[in-house]
Amino acid sequence: MEAAGQTVRYLNVGNPPAFGFQPPAHLTEAVVRALRDGQNGYSASPGIAPARDAVAAEYTRRGWPVSSNRVFITAGTSEGIELVLSALVDPGGEVLVPTPTYPLYTAVLAKIGARPVPYRTDPARDWGPDLDHVNSLVTPATRALVVIDPNNPTGATYPAVTRRALLDLAERHGLALLADEVYGDLGYDGPVAPLGSLAPNAAVISFSSLSKGYLAPGWRAGWLAIGRSSRLDDVVGAVGKLADGRLCSTVPMQYAVVAALEGDRSHQDAFRVALRERAVLTTNALNAIPGVSCVAPRAAFYVMPKVDLPPGKTDEEYVLALLRATGVLCVHGSGFGMPAADGFLRIVFLASPRELTEIYELMGAFTREYLRV
Ligand SMILES: Cc1ncc(COP(=O)(O)O)c(C=O)c1O
Repeated sequence: MEAAGQTVRYLNVGNPPAFGFQPPAHLTEAVVRALRDGQNGYSASPGIAPARDAVAAEYTRRGWPVSSNRVFITAGTSEGIELVLSALVDPGGEVLVPTPTYPLYTAVLAKIGARPVPYRTDPARDWGPDLDHVNSLVTPATRALVVIDPNNPTGATYPAVTRRALLDLAERHGLALLADEVYGDLGYDGPVAPLGSLAPNAAVISFSSLSKGYLAPGWRAGWLAIGRSSRLDDVVGAVGKLADGRLCSTVPMQYAVVAALEGDRSHQDAFRVALRERAVLTTNALNAIPGVSCVAPRAAFYVMPKVDLPPGKTDEEYVLALLRATGVLCVHGSGFGMPAADGFLRIVFLASPRELTEIYELMGAFTREYLRV
């Protein structure tokens, strides 16, 4: 379409710098300083000590005591997820993952030869997990429960009672709880407490990075932290071996982790305000389109509306028709594991309010026409 001269508006990837949200200057300076200081060699495979200490101190300050020797600096949340799933799950093992899901979990499990077992999250309950459903899916082969809170693709945050129930469930069944907290700083009402802070002795492994809260996804800098439960001691050893195998994560960026967690974070206040404004605009505009409904997000920059599709149509057909007609590119819900006939799609709302208003006008006009057929 672009080759034919048409403009495409990319609302399909959660990539803040593409919309003008750049990392704070002191992070860039930390990377440049590290390069100038000759920090160009390998580091210890779990990461440089100041970065591991900064991550441990950050979780501890936020109510989840973690020791530095159970922290690994990784190439983003993504590498952390891959290291831990590889360490924890054998071929044939099962892992409970939310639906809609962030697709990396299912992809890594497929690579390992393990089985993702999807549990429902429900738009009728603000996209909260269906706890009875989660419970009913545990088998002797289940190794871990993945919780993404705040959530991509739904923008949900879970209330404390739900978070506690998920922790209880994992403990009761002897599962590791994999807490994907990459959006933890992006709750519109302020940072969301790490899940481990609700149960410091539980078997929780947390993942996060500089990608979202620090606006530097291209730097591929993140971390994982393994809780103090002795059930996870072997996981620390196995992740350590896998981390040795990949030598280390990019060293100059590890200095930015220190700068991020020990430095000024006022950029996050401004970013949260910008996100809330876009979330309100998005929710109002989408709910005003006949045949479209969406739950108001509470964090991050995603929303997952539903289009009441005519019988026989799929979410992907709708998304492709929208792209061809308007140049607006979103991701169909079945890309996140939803049934194609349910008509879900995910929108990234990082564009300016003015551009978003234009986009939702285009979507409204297109959808009225599409649903008339
Ligand atoms: C839920 C979730 N987990 C992990 C990631 C990967 O993040 P990173 O850039 O830290 O690897 C993303 C990126 O969008 C995400 O949405």
